[in-house]
Amino acid sequence: MFQGVWRKTLVAALTGALALSLAGCGGGAKQGAQNGEKKDEPVVIKFSHVVAETTPKGQAALKFKELVEQKTGGKVKVEVYPSSQLYGDKEELEALVANNVQMIAPSVTKLVGLNPSFQIVDMPFVFKNEEATLKFYDGPAGQKLLTSLDGKGLLGLAWWPNGAKHFTNSKKPLKAPADFAGLKFRTQSGGVLDAQFKALGAGSQTIPFGEVYPALQNGTVDGQENTFNNIDTQKYSEVQKYLTVSNHGRLDYVVLTNKSFWDGLPEALRTEVKAALDEATKYERELSTKLNQESFEKMKNSGKVEVYQLTDTDREAFVKAMEPVYKQYEEKIGKELLETARNAQ
Ligand code: LMR
Repeated sequence: MFQGVWRKTLVAALTGALALSLAGCGGGAKQGAQNGEKKDEPVVIKFSHVVAETTPKGQAALKFKELVEQKTGGKVKVEVYPSSQLYGDKEELEALVANNVQMIAPSVTKLVGLNPSFQIVDMPFVFKNEEATLKFYDGPAGQKLLTSLDGKGLLGLAWWPNGAKHFTNSKKPLKAPADFAGLKFRTQSGGVLDAQFKALGAGSQTIPFGEVYPALQNGTVDGQENTFNNIDTQKYSEVQKYLTVSNHGRLDYVVLTNKSFWDGLPEALRTEVKAALDEATKYERELSTKLNQESFEKMKNSGKVEVYQLTDTDREAFVKAMEPVYKQYEEKIGKELLETARNAQ
């Protein structure tokens, strides 16, 4: 009996300790308010991401930090952890749900496990251009996608578009669908991207962003698809001789926070943090176009990569070759959503 009581006491103590440590990880909003000693301590937002600091996402996260700290007079501090320093692709989402970080901005594709409709960004050639993509994100369909995460303990706060994806590989110039036969490509996640490469006669493998360079270097995969700026800042041109300017899909981000953390912020601070995010979002959108263009010029002029730009006729051949992806995925993603994306302008 004594043993039973002891065990119960121990379990209660451990549960209490765990609850406290989780609250401690939670950025301190409630902790500060509840604990007299810690009342004046700033709330900390840990912002984790996987890309370099010099990318649109990396720069916008730093801008967000600067604006938050300025607008709240230091009552909220933002710690930015770039380059998968803290967590990789899969872990960062789990860490956010556990409130071990309070903000992340994953590529939209990586939210497929939460809502398959996020794969809209992977549907080949679905958006007409950059402007149409932004209209979609900022319109009712994009906003509905953001709120679709509400029941999962997460809150979608903003869309941070990066840009169009392009193919790179180490074997040969890719000018037509037939050139893909037998090659293997890295994907971010989700079935649409596997289906896309299958439709082109290629294989695919999901690899976390932080592990892509070695996978390209040691030949685990022959190629990958990404924005100009990610290709450049990850130095893929050292191991990828061929770049095809294809604009075949999108690589954009959703800024996410932990819902309990967000709801626990004192209202006045939450308003300032949101205002900082709105400004950082504007900044990110201007910067992404500029940085991608600069990266493209840099790679083109480096002499390291052979660049091929798809012509309109080439593009038609790719659209046709990728039709099976639509047949396979239009129900899962939603016909209406696809129509809205296609018609956005
Ligand atoms: C990728 O995995 O290729 C990208 O999603 C990385 C990023 O966050 O831009």
